[in-house]
Amino acid sequence: MLLLETIADLRRACDRAGTQGRRVGLVPTMGSLHEGHRSLMRAARAECDVVVVTIFVNPLQFGAGEDLGTYPRDLSGDTAVCEREGVDLVFAPSVAEMYPGGPPLTTVHVAGLTDDLCGAARPTHFDGVATVVTKLFAATSPCRAYFGRKDAQQLAVISRLAADLNLPVDVVGCPIVREPDGLALSSRNAYLSADERRSALVLSHALERAAAATVAGERDAGALVDLVRGLVAREPAVDLEYVEARALADLRPVEVLDGEILVAVAARVGTTRLIDNVTLTIDDGDVVADLGIRFDRKNRNDRRSLGTQSKEWA
Ligand code: PAJ
Repeated sequence: MLLLETIADLRRACDRAGTQGRRVGLVPTMGSLHEGHRSLMRAARAECDVVVVTIFVNPLQFGAGEDLGTYPRDLSGDTAVCEREGVDLVFAPSVAEMYPGGPPLTTVHVAGLTDDLCGAARPTHFDGVATVVTKLFAATSPCRAYFGRKDAQQLAVISRLAADLNLPVDVVGCPIVREPDGLALSSRNAYLSADERRSALVLSHALERAAAATVAGERDAGALVDLVRGLVAREPAVDLEYVEARALADLRPVEVLDGEILVAVAARVGTTRLIDNVTLTIDDGDVVADLGIRFDRKNRNDRRSLGTQSKEWA
């Protein structure tokens, strides 16, 4: 495994792979790697010849007063994780390497998709994400790039930017990986005290209840949102920022639950901002709820698909 720190070295290595006809799979991360990141690496390893993991805490996607300074960083632990996952190249640049001369004058803005949901509370966030991901695409020319569905709005934004700019990359969305008790894995979970972590569970549990309600026949988006809001409100330590039901493909608001629906939440637990979601696929009376996969700490390879299906419930 090679550890690279400059864009020139990264581009050279990826160009070489390309000329040899080897397909590059890209996994962009901000490090502090956990089982969610590892699931992306495994998907890339299974489908590509050369797996590139990037580790960069991107200042451009943090707003004023956010956690850029305290974001967990552990490059030696992260490279060990990459090594274990059979990654070929790790790219861990400095801020000066990515943004020589400070913040770039050219940025990438995906209109519409970035205005609300997380974009409402973090108005510059998705421009920062879209800009850094575009730079990484340009440096690596990946055939495929892997992103978690945990960040559903981010996945929609990147899919749209690749389509709009005709970038020759398949943007692959991978299942949410959860702790055994349902909490979605996140580098930011490290900020939570034991009590806060217990409180945070209300988010995944409320989404499970929303999935079950849809399986049981709920088709009113407003009622589903109210159900989640009511459940989260029972946990006073959790300050709900939003709960929304949206069409998965373009994030437009919906009134009726039909087709592929994203039910997404964001909340603060203490000072930590957490997000989570469930995807519901509703086809007449048939509902499939995708909550992701549950990761078993004792046996890393034992993963249980999470979700509910109307046929099983009937
Ligand atoms: P980061 O938060 O490190 O996440 C890197 C990738 O891991 C993202 O695609 C994210 O959706 C995925 N991921 C995180 N937690 C996950 C989980 N529990 N299950 C499945 N996938 C999970 O997202 C970013 O970094 C940055 O915005 C980035 C895209 C790297 C741009 O800077």
